[in-house]
Amino acid sequence: MNKGICWMEGKIHPLSEARISVRDHGLLYGDGVFEGVRFYQGMPFMLREHLQRLQDSARAIGLDCPWQPEELTDIVMQVVAAFSEAQGYLRILLTRGEGALGIDPRSCTQPQLIVIADRLQMIDPAVREQGADLIIASTRRLPADGLDPRIKSLNYLNHILARMEANHAGAHEAVLLNTRGQVAEGTADNLFLVRKGVLLTPPITDGALEGITRQLMLDLAREEGLAAREQSLAPYDLYTAEECFLTGTGAELIPVRSIDGRKPRQCPGPVYQRLSRCFRHHIDQHCGKKP
Ligand SMILES: Cc1ncc(COP(=O)(O)O)c(C=O)c1O
Repeated sequence: MNKGICWMEGKIHPLSEARISVRDHGLLYGDGVFEGVRFYQGMPFMLREHLQRLQDSARAIGLDCPWQPEELTDIVMQVVAAFSEAQGYLRILLTRGEGALGIDPRSCTQPQLIVIADRLQMIDPAVREQGADLIIASTRRLPADGLDPRIKSLNYLNHILARMEANHAGAHEAVLLNTRGQVAEGTADNLFLVRKGVLLTPPITDGALEGITRQLMLDLAREEGLAAREQSLAPYDLYTAEECFLTGTGAELIPVRSIDGRKPRQCPGPVYQRLSRCFRHHIDQHCGKKP
């Protein structure tokens, strides 16, 4: 039985009973923003950063969030406390709310906030052990001058199309390139590789979401004394990488075993294993404290 719960309009409902209006522009046009947050030991992980990104995304699309950060934190903490398990995943959505059928957002007067708590398993635990198989999708990441990749919007259709390509190919995940053919990110995760001993990830300007786990990985790598930097990457760099892995709130860390059939030299490699230990340690430290 699904144990998911959902906060809406001041009340917590079983997930199966939560309803939104068919006139909500989040549903009609993908007009809204969202966050995914994991909680461990009853404590949301990096909540401040996620709420900041939610509010920045909302501001970038001209959506006024009537809830202050402290109120959002309170709601999230209520949802986490009401969930039946100490570990899980939160989905926070802020939509433009109900409006007329036309696209014009001016008819939407009350944004809708939805906070879901549920379990989330992005990948089979065996795949996390052995590594994921990736393909490079023919579907491209939306260009940054079309929709800024820092906006975590409710529009994920090209990511879904890329994921369908992966499903069709029997792979676990797809890599999206930008319209210049450079590596942007996975469908719901950022991508790292190790080349000549240096940890590399594409810059945001190449079309990657400004991932919170991505930033944490760069910080942890530097704390560990590992060389790490943002650099534009081509498929060639993926095909010839020493190591490759994915990062994200849902994904956590996933080592990559192959990309279009080419195998990184090691999987899971030493850099991944070291950062993975640091990541777990960071979660334990962070989730022992109040947000
Ligand atoms: C497209 C995309 N890229 C990257 C990420 C990883 O970002 P984060 O580490 O902030 O969860 C996500 C996760 O939501 C995502 O949807």
